[in-house]
Amino acid sequence: MATYFSKITGWGMYVPSNVVTNHDLEKFLDTSDEWIVTRTGIRERRIVSEGETTVSMSVAASRKALEKAGIQPEDLDLIILATSTPDYLVPPASSLVQDELGAKCGAFTLVAGCSGFVYGLATAAQFVQTGVYKHVLVIGAEVISAGIDWEDRNTAVLFGDGAGAVVVSRTTQPGGLLSLKLGSDGSGWDALIVPALGAKNYPSLENIARKEHKLKMNGRAVFKFASRILSDATMEVVSEAGLTMDDIDLLIPHQANQRIIDLALRRLKFPAEKTVVNLDRYGNTSAASVPLAMIEAIEDGRLKENDKVVMIAFGAGLTYAAVVWEFQPFETGPADEEEAILVTNWPVNSAFQRKLQEMRVAAWKMKVQARTKASEASMAIMLPLYSFRKGLRKRMQNGNGKKPDGQ
Ligand code: UT7
Repeated sequence: MATYFSKITGWGMYVPSNVVTNHDLEKFLDTSDEWIVTRTGIRERRIVSEGETTVSMSVAASRKALEKAGIQPEDLDLIILATSTPDYLVPPASSLVQDELGAKCGAFTLVAGCSGFVYGLATAAQFVQTGVYKHVLVIGAEVISAGIDWEDRNTAVLFGDGAGAVVVSRTTQPGGLLSLKLGSDGSGWDALIVPALGAKNYPSLENIARKEHKLKMNGRAVFKFASRILSDATMEVVSEAGLTMDDIDLLIPHQANQRIIDLALRRLKFPAEKTVVNLDRYGNTSAASVPLAMIEAIEDGRLKENDKVVMIAFGAGLTYAAVVWEFQPFETGPADEEEAILVTNWPVNSAFQRKLQEMRVAAWKMKVQARTKASEASMAIMLPLYSFRKGLRKRMQNGNGKKPDGQ
């Protein structure tokens, strides 16, 4: 019986042409380009224009992915659309995409916040590796701008719109999904929330007046979760694949904040040159962020055939998802159906060498854990100091600790 692997055979992206820079935001928000760049790394984002929706962008990205994979919509066995901003709450946006593409397969919408695309990738791989399906289309697409309160500087400066799609195909060429880690910490459910756009709280006039139908975020809580999970889940998923970061060619993290990425890189001791960042141009596009970064990396030649890549995302839920993905040769053809030689059967992969590799991975994990503990301990000391200094500065500005009225 053939052993099947997953392979990304096609990819395509779509971003709106409308560019909104930090300077554009300065015109109507109490913010500055300097604050946004230093606190997040974002310089501009794309925002939809009339007629552009999650479905239309998904269809445009998917058509490119199908063309690259060399297949027709009728060849698809399943469509997974990851989004938190569907065109309608009902019907599922995935069915609209299926219809517009002219596909004849099942389709579902996957809601897992910004982690949705990576959840979808891990899910698609299960369908093809088991031999059940041959081609699964996975899309990450968002029109976050529709859910933003444009008077709330906490969220308005962060997000952008876009879509990325990949075709995950069945192959006998070893590679594809090497390991996965899916997670959810629902105790943080209210850190990133649209309070009144569901069956519990409808957008009543009162709720709309309170802007409860718009995105609310506790930025610090998400930051704390994200900076921990980015390094922890990367470490877990890489060691699960029997590898260390030295074996990883490229890290594609969720594009939320440059500071979150930098912190994880320090803990993992992983070079910035091997990390894909495009948040300066697109901001945080939620479920579209990882596919956009991945597709740009392929098209720029940074992501190459045979590369081992970590893709990792985190977001509302709070959720996270990570995979190690080994890219097979990009071209598809008869080789995809040839009988595979299983890596585990290779003579070089003797029991002794496997044991040695396990020890190498365990030693590396201990080092990353120690660095994470040290960096958290220093943050625990520095944060109260920082707040104290900030308070002191504010009091000085108000006249040496005296209230403005001199009391
Ligand atoms: O996909 C997951 C989605 N979400 C995230 O990844 C968000 C994770 N969190 C973050 O990235 C950061 O927490 C933010 C970028 C949202 C905020 O950065 P921060 O360094 O945590 O800022 P802060 O909330 O501690 O606020 C610092 C100051 C405050 O002023 P005071 O109290 O010191 O006077 C804020 O009011 O910065 C102020 N501030 C702003 N100033 C100018 C907050 N937003 C802005 C803004 N422009 N846009």
